[in-house]
This record gives sequence, structure tokens and C-alpha cells, in this order.
Amino acid sequence: MSLLGASRTAARFVNSKNAACLLIASRNASSSTNLKDVLADLIPKEQTRIKNFKQQYGKTSIGQITIDMVYGGMRGMKGLVYETSVLDPDEGIRFRGYSIPECQQMLPKAPSGEEPLPEGLFWLLATGQIPTQEQVSWVSKEWAKRAALPSHVVTMLDNFPNNLHPMSQFSAAITALNSESSFARAYAEGVNKAKYWEFIYEDSMDLIAKLPCVAAKIYRNLYREGSSIGAIDSNLDWSYNFTNMLGYTEPQFTELMRMYLTIHSDHEGGNVSAHTSHLVGSALSDPYLSFSAAMNGLAGPLHGLANQEVLVWLTHLQKELGGEVSDEKLRDYIWNTLKSGRVVPGYGHAVLRKTDPRYTCQREFALKHLPNDPMFKLVSQLYKIVPDVLLEQGKAKNPWPNVDAHSGVLLQYYGMTEMNYYTVLFGVSRALGVLSQMIWSRALGFPLERPKSMSTEGLMTLVGAKSG
Ligand SMILES: CC(C)(COP(=O)(O)OP(=O)(O)OC[C@H]1O[C@@H](n2cnc3c(N)ncnc32)[C@H](O)[C@@H]1OP(=O)(O)O)[C@@H](O)C(=O)NCCC(=O)NCCS
Repeated sequence: MSLLGASRTAARFVNSKNAACLLIASRNASSSTNLKDVLADLIPKEQTRIKNFKQQYGKTSIGQITIDMVYGGMRGMKGLVYETSVLDPDEGIRFRGYSIPECQQMLPKAPSGEEPLPEGLFWLLATGQIPTQEQVSWVSKEWAKRAALPSHVVTMLDNFPNNLHPMSQFSAAITALNSESSFARAYAEGVNKAKYWEFIYEDSMDLIAKLPCVAAKIYRNLYREGSSIGAIDSNLDWSYNFTNMLGYTEPQFTELMRMYLTIHSDHEGGNVSAHTSHLVGSALSDPYLSFSAAMNGLAGPLHGLANQEVLVWLTHLQKELGGEVSDEKLRDYIWNTLKSGRVVPGYGHAVLRKTDPRYTCQREFALKHLPNDPMFKLVSQLYKIVPDVLLEQGKAKNPWPNVDAHSGVLLQYYGMTEMNYYTVLFGVSRALGVLSQMIWSRALGFPLERPKSMSTEGLMTLVGAKSG
């Protein structure tokens, strides 16, 4: 799409919620295909805008902190600045002001593809601008150029035992990749603060380029007898190279991966993986160290690992109840899960209060490409039953499905049955969001994160409660 075409399409989507963001985007719309040049142009303008905002409103109060919030995992507490995406409880995620359907329509696609290229989403997250086809091709080529792994990381991956979870392998390999960090090197050499973002940018581009190789190596080592991942083709897009390296040649699987890698990328700043990378990055740990920390958070069952948990739960369900199951039996099964003190994986959310649009988008993909798949039918049947059961139980604030309720079923359909691996795919995608934010965090000079903690005794004294 030409730049003019992109901004015309953008104009059609202007509404009250994203108008401000789009105005900034169109004001700065840039024709250079070099992302670093575009950022170098945007950053000083944004630094000035925020400096002026802080000068005028720096002492303005934006909310109240209650004791419940402090004990309740800081829910609803506004305490972070995160530019790349914002999550609305009812509407779901917007990437730089654009909803998932808008991104699906507006972001450039592969030749004969229908899903957006994740390269385009990265450009959007990093700049606030809908990229042109040429800008996206530039990113694909850059990532292909930067993809090679250092030999010590390959040796390390080859030496991991088969019983080490894929996410532990993924995180360890990313930590070890920090031998390549240009930010760490520049910092050791005394680089000026004003230039931090440039090295974070280089590391982020390198790391995103290398992640599919790390992920594919783990997959081949664990599930394909250590066969070679092959070579990167610089004429192919990031997802195409990734699915090739995994050993999947079905074009529809590549399309699925383009969509998957786009929608899992970012979910504002407070979720465990985004917040972790934000926090660790604030100590000026390089992007490799910050992102591997984020991956250890994503590996938790209440966060990213839920997509593995959903498939484990569905597989047990099928084993116990067989193929076609009545609604009544499903209800009993869900109640048994709840009564045994477990959660129904893939349902509920800390912020969302409606069906996750990432679930809806995957459901639409399934309706188009695999409407008669028995697992998809089961997931659809559960969609009709689980929310009512959760409402009846009356505990979960959000009874609706989240992203993880659907992703595994799509992967299974195309033959990726190794559910322990699913969170690694989520991790590859999450890099796009948290690393584009990290470039801005350093560009805007965000300080070390250091909130105040209190003991229960201290809180009681603070509010005048009687202790004991
Ligand atoms: C995502 C999740 C961690 C959000 O947690 P939260 O913000 O604390 O959620 P709520 O405020 O609604 O939780 C209130 C209660 O409902 C329970 N609850 C929430 N979702 C539930 C679910 N899917 N199944 C059963 N119980 C659930 C919580 O465990 C909590 O119980 P408690 O009072 O005994 O501690 C939670 O919904 C969950 O565990 N979901 C299943 C795992 C999952 O799908 N994770 C991926 C998220 S994208």
C-alpha cells in the first residue's frame, strides 16, 4: 500500500477512541524505509511533547490507591507508562490506537496472503504509523540479515536434556545471546545516555531476528530428532522463514503463524511479561536479559502457559468423556474442575470484561479454514457453556474466553500437537511488543522502577487500624 493509500485507509477508521493517536501518526507519517531513521525523526518530537506535558501536569493526581489494590496484585492502579498498546476492558487491545480487525485490514500482507505481516505490526508499534509494503519488506530483509545464532548458543541448545521444558530452554538461550548485546558493550564503553535507544534498537532488531531460529532449534531438537532448521531465505518474510525452519510447509499454517505472531505481540504494559521486561530493562539490563526475564513470567500457567494448559485440559476432557459430548456432561466436567480448586484455563482475565478479540479473531480463522474440526467444535461448545458456569460460581470477574482458549486447537489442526511447545510461539510474538516499547523507554529516559512496598504492620499503622 502506498503511503497515501495507507493514510486514506487510516482516515476511514478515525473514531473518538483513536483519533488522537491517528493524528500523531499521520502528522509524522514517514516515507523512509529505514526504521531507525524514522525513529530518529520521531523521538525528539515525542521527548519535547512529554517534557511539556510533565512540566504542566507533573503534580496532578490521577487516582487513589486503596488497601484492596495493594493486596490485590495492584489491579487498576495506574503506575506505568507504556506507549505501544492500550487494553480496554470491553473492547480489548488497540495497537497504537488500532483494533485487531483494523490491523488485519490495514497492515501489509504477504503476496497472496490475507493475514497481516507481523513485521508491519512491529513498525506500527515502534512508530505509531501504518507502514507501506516497502517499509515492511525492508524489515523482513533486516531480520533475515540479522538471524544467525552464535555457535555457543547452538551448542548450549544441543546439550539441553529432553526433559527441560521448551520455555526454560528458550529463556536460557535468550540470556546466553546477550554475548551479542551492542547496548551492553556500548554501556561498558561509557556511551552517552542520549544514545541508549540506538543500541537498544540494534539489540531489539537482532533479538527479534534470532528468536525464530532459537525457537525452531528447540522444536527440532525435542520433536524432530535434532534435524537441521535449514537456512534463512532473505526473500521470505519472518513468519515464512519461521514455519520453514519448524518444518511446516502448508501455506495455511504460515498464514496462521502470521496472524498468531501479530495478535500475541502486545497487551499493554501491566501483564506479567510486559511488566517484567519493563522493570528489568529499567535497571539498564540489555534487551536480551530483560526479554529472557519476561519469558520466565510468560512461562507461568496463569499467563502464557495457559495455552498449553488449555490443550492439556481439553485432552483430559476428551479422554474421560469421549468424542461427542453432551452439554450436560461438559457442565459437570467444568464444575469438577472448579470444585477441585483449579481454574478453567483460557477463561477469565485481569483486565478484560468481554470475549477477548484475540479469541474472536482466531475463531474467525477456524470458521474459515477448519469449521468441521472436532476440537474446534468442542472449543465452540465450551464457549456456550463455560461463561454460564463461571457466572453461576460467582467468583471470576470475567467469565469470557481469553486468547489462550483457542490458539492450541488451531496449531493442533495443522499437526503441531506438542502442547508443551506452544508458549514458545507466544514468546516469539511477545518480543515485538515489549522490545518496541523498550526502544521508547530508553529514548524517553524512563528511570529505574522502584515502587514503595509496605509491611502489613506498616499499612495498618498508615490507615489507623488496630493491629491484631
Ligand atoms: C487470568 C486470571 C489469572 C486473572 O486473575 P484475576 O484478575 O485474579 O481474576 P479475578 O479477579 O476474576 O479472580 C477472582 C477469583 O475468580 C477465580 N477465577 C478467575 N478466573 C477463573 C477461571 N478461569 N476459572 C476458575 N476460577 C477463576 C480466581 O482464581 C479468583 O479466585 P480466588 O478468589 O479464590 O482467588 C484468571 O482469570 C485465571 O486464572 N484464568 C485462567 C488462566 C488463564 O486463562 N490465564 C491466561 C490469561 S490471558
